[in-house]
Amino acid sequence: MQWSPGGDAVRIIDQRRLPGEVVERDLRSLHDGCDAIYTLAVRGAPAIGVAAAMSLVTSLQDWAGDDRHAFDVTLESHARALAAVRPTAVNLAWAIARMMARAKATSGPPTQVLGVLRVEATAILNEDRAMCDAIGANGVEFVPDGTRVLTHCNAGALATAGIGTALAPVYAAHAAGRRVHVVAGETRPLLQGSRLTAWELGRAGIPVRLITDGMAASLMQSGRVDLVLVGADRIAANGDVANKIGTYSIAVAAHHHGIPFVVCAPWSTVDPQTATGGAIAIEMRDGSEVRTIAGLTVSPDGTDVWNPAFDITPSALVTAIVTDRGVHRAPFAFV
Ligand code: MRU
Repeated sequence: MQWSPGGDAVRIIDQRRLPGEVVERDLRSLHDGCDAIYTLAVRGAPAIGVAAAMSLVTSLQDWAGDDRHAFDVTLESHARALAAVRPTAVNLAWAIARMMARAKATSGPPTQVLGVLRVEATAILNEDRAMCDAIGANGVEFVPDGTRVLTHCNAGALATAGIGTALAPVYAAHAAGRRVHVVAGETRPLLQGSRLTAWELGRAGIPVRLITDGMAASLMQSGRVDLVLVGADRIAANGDVANKIGTYSIAVAAHHHGIPFVVCAPWSTVDPQTATGGAIAIEMRDGSEVRTIAGLTVSPDGTDVWNPAFDITPSALVTAIVTDRGVHRAPFAFV
């Protein structure tokens, strides 16, 4: 993710087109930003925070006139719209709140505020890259030579502005010359594991084996998994973790088999205001995502569907949480 060469757009890789095609897309308007985030053209908790902050700037860049009050009203409505697109990943609300705090602290005409907001969005982008590197450095201790890592969804470079969160220790271990083998769960319904994780690890030259979600426990039972690494969309004060649907069942299976279950996330994913996982809003998505696979209908017409995008893993199942600030272990108490 980056500014377009002219700076008038947020340039993303359209993740809906992967792995078939690598297509860049430029987001300019408020609709562009909201649509890209809702349809998962850009996705992953850190990436949607960064994209929203940058989109807030581009959505107002054609503002004309000096009426600061009118500008503030429009800025507020764009900020609300972007923050509301996906409710679970706290990074989205966090990034927008940070942008709005900056706007409120800035006096002067709209052009001046927009200049300050562009600098702030660029800082959020660059800090996200640095946080990924720090997660890699802090988490690499969990990945000695020869580790077989199971991961879920995509918490790699595509989900951030940098090298990823859950995959950051994998990239760090690989860069240090350690052999690391990744098992990627396909992650129904939208297949982030098979479409995205397998794609980006393959490009990086890291061995990856794809499984369907129902195979994870059996693979652990057969002794073929040493470590689970996953990302997070929101981490409650007590260490409960919201992440892609299916994460909880992997955590239960890992606990049963005595396999470390490690969550990797930037500090912007930690939400001390939310006491426990029970208070985290879980995004419900359209049933058509379950009734179809890559556009092909795979269930009878009218089949009833339950489609939560995320689940909650209780902190009791979490071995450690790796952030850019260090390695946190139970009992978790984020403030
Ligand atoms: O619906 P998605 O694809 O945005 O869900 C993404 C996840 O659940 C990731 O694991 C999480 O955001 C961490 S990404 C570094």
